Amino acid sequence: MTDTVPQYLAGAHTAMSRDEALAILDRLTVHLREGTTDMAPAQMKVPISYYLDPEQWQREITEVFHRIPLPICTSAELASVGDFKAVRVAGKEIVVVRGKDGHMRAMVNVCRHRAMKLLPDGCGNTRHGFVCSYHAWSYDTAGRLTGVPEESTFGDVDRDDYSLVQLACEERAGIVYVCLTPGLSMDIDAWLGPVLPYLEALELDKCTHFTTKELAGPNWKVTLDGYLEGYHFSALHPNTVALTNHSNRATFDSFGPHVRNVFALKSLDEMMQRPREEWDPASAMGLVYWVFPGMSIAGGWRERTVISIMLPGDSWGESMTWQTTLLRTPPQTPEEVEEASKTAEWFFAAFRDEDYTAQTDVQNGLASVPDGHMIIGRNEIAVQHAHESLRRLLAGEPVHGDR
Ligand code: FES
Ligand SMILES: [Fe+2]
Repeated sequence: MTDTVPQYLAGAHTAMSRDEALAILDRLTVHLREGTTDMAPAQMKVPISYYLDPEQWQREITEVFHRIPLPICTSAELASVGDFKAVRVAGKEIVVVRGKDGHMRAMVNVCRHRAMKLLPDGCGNTRHGFVCSYHAWSYDTAGRLTGVPEESTFGDVDRDDYSLVQLACEERAGIVYVCLTPGLSMDIDAWLGPVLPYLEALELDKCTHFTTKELAGPNWKVTLDGYLEGYHFSALHPNTVALTNHSNRATFDSFGPHVRNVFALKSLDEMMQRPREEWDPASAMGLVYWVFPGMSIAGGWRERTVISIMLPGDSWGESMTWQTTLLRTPPQTPEEVEEASKTAEWFFAAFRDEDYTAQTDVQNGLASVPDGHMIIGRNEIAVQHAHESLRRLLAGEPVHGDR
């Protein structure tokens, strides 16, 4: 564990209006004074089979993950023409690439000749496109088939019929979203709904990419639960997160399936003693947006923002997380690079050594109590909300609108 806790440097950036921020701070100050937190009306009991059942998991993959707009990466990772990222998500090979026209496209990362995975997982830049390593069929960055070696012996291949399979892809507020099922369209504005203006206010599209680190984790729902509550801060993170954040003192707001949690930072104790006009919201609020089903954006108005995108892997017990650090101002000196590295490593180490370690232990625990249930507290309101959103999606019910 890195022993240096990163400084929460508030930038000049405005993540929301001062009035809105003060309204959230007012709620947090009540929680600090009264020992409360935002709460759900009741506890929620969740059968362990909801986590363990392979049919349940398969339905989540095919009916939710393969159909809704999935956050895949930040725009800043793929800022230049020809930048691409190949990832395997929920059993699907995909590649996103910034074309010559500046637009992001997503395609199935599979060669149309004999279904070879076209690009290995990872990022790169290409000027001309992609060449399959099996028989060297080639494609341009829009996915169009451009070359078939020895075509006189292979037989004619219609370029239009054998382009890479396209997937719906949209960039919004600095995040790239993809729908994993070919032929399905997506309405990203409707999907994000009322959280979109808040995400746009973060101006992630103007940030500079610093690092992206990968982390393998357990079952996606087990991992998800840990992102959504601050009840665990003091027990699980006594030497990291809990040094700067109060445990179990947070506000919760929902925007359809998406969530904003604001955790009370310990600096709020001192700020509360000063006149309200002097309050600096950015220095006292741990602002985290969570976009269903697996993206958390932490530190939205600071110099450094950490975005974690967690998505299911190939099987029930696997997920993958890409944790990206964006900077509002490109680092100018080796010292600034060093500071940014410390923040990125600090976050990553806390997730890896504390959250993901605990969640792996949860997963290991599930099989010993297959007929039991979990109990999700009133204070774990965002966890409850995420599972209710998932239930609604699986039931074909709307996720935006009244709850
Ligand atoms: S499978 Fe790609 S060129 Fe043959
Ligand atoms: Fe945590």
